[in-house]
Amino acid sequence: MARQLPLQPTDIAAPGSGTSAYQKTLLIVWQSMTGGTRQMAEAAAAGARTEATVQVLCKAAAQAGPADLLAADGVLFATPENLASMAGLMKDFFDRCYYPALGRIEGRPYATLVCAGSDGSGAARQIERICTGWRLRATAPPLIVCTQAQTPEAILAPKTLAEADLARCRELGQALAAGLAVGVF
Ligand SMILES: Cc1cc2nc3c(=O)[nH]c(=O)nc-3n(C[C@H](O)[C@H](O)[C@H](O)COP(=O)(O)O)c2cc1C
Repeated sequence: MARQLPLQPTDIAAPGSGTSAYQKTLLIVWQSMTGGTRQMAEAAAAGARTEATVQVLCKAAAQAGPADLLAADGVLFATPENLASMAGLMKDFFDRCYYPALGRIEGRPYATLVCAGSDGSGAARQIERICTGWRLRATAPPLIVCTQAQTPEAILAPKTLAEADLARCRELGQALAAGLAVGVF
């Protein structure tokens, strides 16, 4: 059963832009349990939406599938690190998409956002390995935000990320969308 948050990034077109004005599509696939990754994904989406010709689609991992991936010109993967791995629902997304997309998305740009307590490298490494299999092209090193939550109570509490961290996510989203818009990838 997919865990849902009350606030979800939705598939919203850039304000003032008709769908016909879009030339490229950026897909943001995300999962979040206590809200940190969701804030990172939303910030990246906000940055990406400054590019008027790029359609930004945000999909929770449980709702995303191969068709979304095949239709995207670029992808942002956003996951918590749980037990030194990407979140289970994110892994499920990759499990469902890997073979349907294999050989059909080579060369497309991607980037990764990880929300972690104190590490994040395990999740980042796993996604990098899968994307290497797909022959995707990383546009930036994985962006990892650590909440420094240590106790079970702090780990399970809703997260509010620092503005400086959200600004890094916005910049990453904007850079990915800008590269798509001008066709450098
Ligand atoms: C079951 C579980 C396992 C976790 N394991 C790790 C871990 O291995 N490394 C780490 O840095 N953080 C770990 N964390 C902390 C989460 O990554 C952190 O709370 C983060 O905010 C989760 O993202 P979210 O707010 O989007 O759910 C774990 C959290 C949970 C609930």
